[in-house]
Amino acid sequence: MKVPFNKPYLPETAFEFIREAGQLNHLSGDGIFTRRVEDWMRSMLGVEHVLLTTSCTSALEMAMILTGVGPGDEVIVPSFTFVSCANAVVLRGATPVFADVDPATLSVTPETIEQAVTERTRVVMPVHYAGVAPHIAEVVEFCEQRGLSVIEDAAHAFLGRTDSKPLGTFGNFGAFSFHETKNFSMGEGGALVVRSDADCDRAEIIREKGTNRRQFFNGIVDKYTWVDIGSSYVPSEILAAVLWAQFSEADTIRSRRAMLWERYDKALRPWAAQHGFTTPIVPANSEPTHHIYYVLAPDSATRNRLLHRLQALSIGAVFHYLPLEESVFGQQFRRHPCPNSTSASERLVRLPLFHTMTLDEIDFVIDCVTAERS
Ligand SMILES: Cc1ncc(COP(=O)(O)O)c(C=O)c1O
Repeated sequence: MKVPFNKPYLPETAFEFIREAGQLNHLSGDGIFTRRVEDWMRSMLGVEHVLLTTSCTSALEMAMILTGVGPGDEVIVPSFTFVSCANAVVLRGATPVFADVDPATLSVTPETIEQAVTERTRVVMPVHYAGVAPHIAEVVEFCEQRGLSVIEDAAHAFLGRTDSKPLGTFGNFGAFSFHETKNFSMGEGGALVVRSDADCDRAEIIREKGTNRRQFFNGIVDKYTWVDIGSSYVPSEILAAVLWAQFSEADTIRSRRAMLWERYDKALRPWAAQHGFTTPIVPANSEPTHHIYYVLAPDSATRNRLLHRLQALSIGAVFHYLPLEESVFGQQFRRHPCPNSTSASERLVRLPLFHTMTLDEIDFVIDCVTAERS
């Protein structure tokens, strides 16, 4: 690949921190690096409770357990999202109901959620596609008025803001991803923000295989035992050390990504307008994460042609989600078509974006994209 889609970043300091964890004889979870990471996240997000997890998928599963949903309950999930959102619902025996997305932001809005609400709806799981969520406050208000819980899937949205408030902190729960493709990464990992103290007490137990082990290590109980359901959602200190190394470079990582994203946008916006493509919008109330740069082609044939041409030029351009209600497993939950999701899925191209990308690399991608004429 001349320009890969992503280059995982492993700073030199990560190795020092891993060695430090080893010297402390603590490579399993919840050691000093997990504490550092969680404390930093708490201060950046302005929240009380953050738990580091093995993935965003795990964080969503934990949140879903905490909502208490079960058979007969419905959870509204965007059609245009990753399978983890729907799996977390199905694993509780509840039913995912897919809502269409807004064509401008590719995320759900109160209007698209309303089309999917029934008397069985208990939870709504908005996804902040590409780290932008201009409607999140309205979504939360809509849900509060109807007594529905909100789990924000903020996999793309760590350190993004809407109306100056950090994404992942609007709902009852917020889930982040630190997978290797994300802005900050520990290879595989994630975190869960929990708003209420009671939910946090239970979340700590669920995260530790249903035991009160954290209370034991915090000196609150004198032995630990099995007290609830749970699973293995605690990541190793080795991975927390890698994430801490990245957080230590947060300003550089964020400013490089912003610069690269803006460079794409400056070059591709005029070309897109001329040739029937669309580029991402960043509404005035949003501070984006610059997680994804994408273009939407006028139709699927043009998208496929562009994608194949970029791949033939050794550029790691990729498509993104397939609508979940059209998937092999998701079809059984299909209630109504989600035309905006289908259309986005057929027309979207994600371009390479990683903070160590060189200007030569990004300009090569830009030149190859703008050679496409519709
Ligand atoms: C919206 C969304 N949610 C959840 C996930 C799952 O994240 P993880 O790989 O950390 O489990 C992804 C993966 O990219 C995603 O795009």
